[in-house]
Amino acid sequence: MKILVTGGLGFIGSHTVVELLKENNEVIIVDNLYNSKIEVLEKLEKITGKKIKFYKYDLVNKEEIEKIFKENEIDSVIHFAGYKAVGESVKKPLMYYSNNLISTINLLETMNKYNVKKIVFSSSATVYGNPGVVKYTEELGRKDASSPYGTTKCMIEKILEDLYASDNSWNITILRYFNPVGAHESGLIGEEPNGIPNNLMPYVMKVASGKLETLSIFGNDYPTPDGTGIRDYIHVVDLAKGHVKALEKIKEGLNYYNLGSGKGISVLELVNTFEKINNVKVNYKIVGRREGDLAEYYADATKALNELNWKTEKTLEDICKDSWNYEKNNK
Ligand code: UFG
Repeated sequence: MKILVTGGLGFIGSHTVVELLKENNEVIIVDNLYNSKIEVLEKLEKITGKKIKFYKYDLVNKEEIEKIFKENEIDSVIHFAGYKAVGESVKKPLMYYSNNLISTINLLETMNKYNVKKIVFSSSATVYGNPGVVKYTEELGRKDASSPYGTTKCMIEKILEDLYASDNSWNITILRYFNPVGAHESGLIGEEPNGIPNNLMPYVMKVASGKLETLSIFGNDYPTPDGTGIRDYIHVVDLAKGHVKALEKIKEGLNYYNLGSGKGISVLELVNTFEKINNVKVNYKIVGRREGDLAEYYADATKALNELNWKTEKTLEDICKDSWNYEKNNK
């Protein structure tokens, strides 16, 4: 299959490209390098031993997308490209709505024009909002997300549903990720957030390597066993494999799948495991809760197991080991 991967040099995109190439797919990457680095392309070629076709184009520019579809016989698209920082989206909502929505609409219009009607979309558990339960099944449906970033995911899911309702020859798979972490075991690719990280694992790595002094743990008074927040952390390589399975099994219609491990891990459990497995110290202090955070949630990933034959294989130990290996390699 010839697959166009938008945002293919980003964190999840790059790991997915590795897994797609492993399964002998042909991959074309489009990425505007807004939140990724061109060096990742070389690293991908090093890991896979394959040459990868790359376009430094912006999906906001429709003529650029059209060129890609004119020059290549694309079978399907995995759409990762988009702004993704929750905190930034609260400060710059228009930037998020404009970029994430316009780029997606341009992409879908061009796919329609070239009769490419298979797409896997990168969504998030944030679309469930605050459903009042801790184990999320797909049936819960969307609620209001807690940030403009999350709302763009809700809106794009709705756009895809309306598109499918208008033309049911589309095959659309929506993947809702829980908390992607970890790095490729080669230590060549991993997560590279701009500036000071907002997410837990990137912050833990910066503290462990001495680039930041202290991790603030946001609250230890939640109704959880150790009082800290519980999330479903998923190794990015497991997540990447989920995309390959989703494409292989893509079927008529519009389908949603949770991609998570099904297991909740607390902030303290993650920090303790990271210290133990890597034999490093992570200085932390307990501070107040972060606004908008939920106490606890994790995936019910049964549907992905039953229909895609996919489940996570990596452990929390693998996650901590691979993350630290990447950080050490890229000091
Ligand atoms: N946390 C800390 N200290 C930090 C950062 C995070 O204690 O410095 C805690 C949070 O309070 C939370 C857990 O670590 O309990 C995980 O926080 P992250 O910021 O890593 O992840 P979130 O669960 O908040 O964010 C995820 C995704 C987003 C998505 C959001 C809302 O990364 O893409 O869920 O569902 F929008």
